[in-house]
Amino acid sequence: MKRQKILVAYGSKHGATVGIAEEIGRALAEDGFDTDVVPAADVQDVTQFDAVILGSALYAGHWQRSALSCADRNAEALAHRPVWLFSSGPVDSSAEQHEIAPVPGAAEAMEGLHARGHVTFGGSLTSETSGWIARTLVKHGKGGDFRNPEQIRSWAHEIGNELRSQQPA
Ligand SMILES: Cc1cc2nc3c(=O)[nH]c(=O)nc-3n(C[C@H](O)[C@H](O)[C@H](O)COP(=O)(O)O)c2cc1C
Repeated sequence: MKRQKILVAYGSKHGATVGIAEEIGRALAEDGFDTDVVPAADVQDVTQFDAVILGSALYAGHWQRSALSCADRNAEALAHRPVWLFSSGPVDSSAEQHEIAPVPGAAEAMEGLHARGHVTFGGSLTSETSGWIARTLVKHGKGGDFRNPEQIRSWAHEIGNELRSQQPA
């Protein structure tokens, strides 16, 4: 049986979302898929992939421009293959406790691409995060790493199961 190829693309400013995308890629590779994990800005052509997972860090209630542009640029091809979206993320445990709806830009992308699902994962803001706003927030106790590897991996495995169950024999 042909191995399905999955693209995991991300929009990240400070690197936390890269870690989430890599965890998704690792989980799907363990499930037997070929995975490419790349910045959304570098995605020019998705037609070689059987499925696409696109995610972005949230800043002031918005997805990163690179992720939104990736969705726009590849809208037609994405609408013809299975797509899932993810966002990252609250710097508290809220994303582990309940579902967090996509921000308006991500919700629009969901609709336009007929995405099969969306999840908001916890984010990360630490003293290593660059930028004065981030550093100020951390200094005032608003930081921490709220990415939950188990939650991320379990979402990725669900996607893997769905793709496998729909693969023609
Ligand atoms: C200035 C600033 C604004 C942020 N705005 C939001 C927000 O609106 N919603 C949210 O859930 N998280 C917000 N965050 C948290 C980030 O989304 C989180 O730190 C994320 O993991 C960063 O990802 P990145 O390192 O890939 O850029 C904000 C963080 C900063 C520093």
